[in-house]
Amino acid sequence: MTDVTVGVIGAGLMGQELASSIGRWMALTDASFAPRITAVCDLSSERRRWFERLGTIEISTEDYREVLSSDVDVVYIAVPHHLHEQIYTATARAGKAFLGEKPFGFDLEATQAIVSAIDESGVFARCSSEMPFFPGAQEAVRAVMQGELGTILDARFAFLHSSDLDRAKPINWKRRVETCGPGGVMTDLGMHVFHVPLRLGWAIEVLAAHLQNIVHERPDGEGGVAECDTIDNATIFAEGSTGSSQFPIVFETKRIAPGETTTWAMPAIGTEGGGSFSTKYPKSLRRFEMRAGRQVWSVEDLGSVSAHPSITGAIFEFGFADAVQQMWASFFAELADDLAGRYACATPSEALEAQRVVDDALRVGVRR
Ligand SMILES: NC(=O)c1ccc[n+]([C@@H]2O[C@H](COP(=O)([O-])OP(=O)(O)OC[C@H]3O[C@@H](n4cnc5c(N)ncnc54)[C@H](O)[C@@H]3O)[C@@H](O)[C@H]2O)c1
Repeated sequence: MTDVTVGVIGAGLMGQELASSIGRWMALTDASFAPRITAVCDLSSERRRWFERLGTIEISTEDYREVLSSDVDVVYIAVPHHLHEQIYTATARAGKAFLGEKPFGFDLEATQAIVSAIDESGVFARCSSEMPFFPGAQEAVRAVMQGELGTILDARFAFLHSSDLDRAKPINWKRRVETCGPGGVMTDLGMHVFHVPLRLGWAIEVLAAHLQNIVHERPDGEGGVAECDTIDNATIFAEGSTGSSQFPIVFETKRIAPGETTTWAMPAIGTEGGGSFSTKYPKSLRRFEMRAGRQVWSVEDLGSVSAHPSITGAIFEFGFADAVQQMWASFFAELADDLAGRYACATPSEALEAQRVVDDALRVGVRR
């Protein structure tokens, strides 16, 4: 098994998620690489201290350049969006392979700069997007790729959560344009909804968009109030094209979606069949087919069969932490040229195209 050392820049929610994934790496039964986090960078000493429990940290710093000049093999970057261009381009220029959290850039210009730096340096870089690693999503993607839906008639991709339903929740960097990005919720969650259609090779043309800023002020956490200027909910109406046929696609990214904790969903229907997967029902894939002239929707219980085999029995449920681990298994396998046809992480060009769609939606969208 090949040892891979990892440096984490940004030791918050997602940085800790990677640490926990690696902590149970033994769950993967055919991994040919063994990642180990040896460097951590964060402005917060408390967050860096959290990583000490791993027992593998050799560098703990508040300066990301120390991670880049160290001998780590791979860098994971999970910091607020306004820092992505600076840190991602510096990582590429330092010649380090990296997985950058979504979105690649704060806006289209920043994303182009990041992709150019990757192209110029030739480093292996991928953009985080774990939801397509759910078994139901993998099976749905396989079915579409093999033409089982016939001519696509209609598709929808959604990422919905309700973390901002509570108006009393204090503001944070994701609710400010200057740190989140001009696309607000689309900048934050867009990669989640664009990754699969782009991987299917569909061209996306934005026709219209409805962009809602619902909560304009939030507690600032210090007894006052702060302006909350990001788009909270976005619905993009687009045309998808396979080259030979065109069809409507709706993309929903919503931060205020009552009844949804985090729901990622991808229903699609075609002339020969259909499929619908939602993380609300993580084991189940709904399929549509014609059977002896009858129109039949059926539900298959897929269980936890994953692209990168694990000790978890197929009869159990798959969850967010499993999807994150599968994404990382895919990242390391592709880095080692051992992907063997399995689903790859989102590429820099997919991240750029996702940002282009967000940019188009901002230009044509109706803001309320
Ligand atoms: N893939 C997913 O499902 C998913 C989920 C949540 C967040 N994210 C993405 O992960 C990234 C981070 O989000 P998060 O929720 O972990 O945020 P977070 O606020 O929990 O963590 C960000 C960390 O970055 C640190 N930081 C800020 N400036 C820094 C600097 N100059 N140098 C080093 N560290 C610095 C902060 O102190 C904080 O600990 C974002 O790009 C976000 O969109 C992805």
